[in-house]
Amino acid sequence: MHIYDQKESRKLLERAKKVIPGSPLCPGGGMYGHYSVSVPARGNPIYFSKADGSRFWDVDGNEYIDYMCAYGPMILGYNHGTVDKAARQQYRKGNTVSLASPVMVELAEQLVDMVSIADWAFFAKNGADPTNLAVMVARAATGRKKILMFDGGYHGSSPWMQDPGSGGTIEEDTANVLKATWNDFEQIRKIVGENDGQIAGLISTPYHHPVVFDNEMPAPGFWKNIQDLCNRKGIVLILDDVRAGFRADLAGSNEYFGFKPDLACFGKALANGYPISALVGTDALRDAVSNVFFTGTQFFNAAPMAAALATLRELKRINAPKIMLERGWKVMGGIVDIAKGYGYDLRVSGLPSMPFLRITNQDPPVFSEGIAGLHSGLHSDWISECVQRGAYFLDYHNHFISTAHTDEDTQRTWDIADDAFKAVKKNYGDRF
Ligand SMILES: Cc1ncc(COP(=O)(O)O)c(C=O)c1O
Repeated sequence: MHIYDQKESRKLLERAKKVIPGSPLCPGGGMYGHYSVSVPARGNPIYFSKADGSRFWDVDGNEYIDYMCAYGPMILGYNHGTVDKAARQQYRKGNTVSLASPVMVELAEQLVDMVSIADWAFFAKNGADPTNLAVMVARAATGRKKILMFDGGYHGSSPWMQDPGSGGTIEEDTANVLKATWNDFEQIRKIVGENDGQIAGLISTPYHHPVVFDNEMPAPGFWKNIQDLCNRKGIVLILDDVRAGFRADLAGSNEYFGFKPDLACFGKALANGYPISALVGTDALRDAVSNVFFTGTQFFNAAPMAAALATLRELKRINAPKIMLERGWKVMGGIVDIAKGYGYDLRVSGLPSMPFLRITNQDPPVFSEGIAGLHSGLHSDWISECVQRGAYFLDYHNHFISTAHTDEDTQRTWDIADDAFKAVKKNYGDRF
């Protein structure tokens, strides 16, 4: 199988290093944020030249089946005809104008119609906008300060959401943030008891999808217990569906897991890549959200709203979650079987439409020790071998399936995975 090189990507990175600083995960600079994490990985492309359907091409001309889907936004495929047409038409009519467009009302109606708990919707840009707003709404509704979240949960890059001690944050940012362990309801009950009458909201993703570690589904009864506790204690239950949204259930991932939050945050896949996010909520919180000052210059862009409306209609028309859940099962199940043939145990965790992968033979993997071990060891090496053959996986993050992934992609991915296992077997022999 042809092994890719990334000479042009690396050349461009050298230029970038002079004008774009780095991140703690990308020493040397040239890239920031979550896109910086994979830059130091062996054989990783850094810049794309074009994308279409389920694939992208890097600046060296290498073609990849994209299992990251832009970290979630791509759900119907790159350059989706219907979505792009809706956006183009709206761009022609007007995008950022001194008034809102009627499409904003239509989109809010669509979300209220589609999402089970939604009686209203507010729109913004990134996922951190609705998670921030949700926390403010919880505080406005309850008059309380504290927010409870799960250790390893990610809700955006705002200071209150970062780990204490992170660069640029101060103690006060996280002074009112309490952390619990996923699936440990007794601990949550204890924390709520110790902070009785002080917790405004509990924010959580529908299941636990931290970086680096295996993803965890809710234990039986976990969500029901949390919902009952929040209801009893007057705590606003906030679903952060920014990442999983529309890949489990179009009515909200809470429907897949059987619970009812008070607020739900969406972003990423909402418009198949156009920049828009949303907070939806119940009537009980209509006054509270109306009392929070929340705005942004670009929050009223009409073209992303038109794209979102087209995306939601298309997701509904084709019953997209079913397609992605089934495709995820199929492609990942096949890789698990191929791994077995080489003596490797590939663990797939999380939703099949958002699978996290880990070869467990080297346990714990080097990268679970922390940043220093990232991109090294058996699992990371296998991922690198896949990437260098055209399947874009990452070693530390969950993956994403879209409705644009085809049977041909599945077969090609299995061939790549097989060749990649062969390569690591050659390097590692029977060490693991
Ligand atoms: C669960 C979750 N919430 C919130 C966010 C923040 O979204 P954004 O990066 O668009 O601000 C993310 C981003 O990865 C996320 O995965």
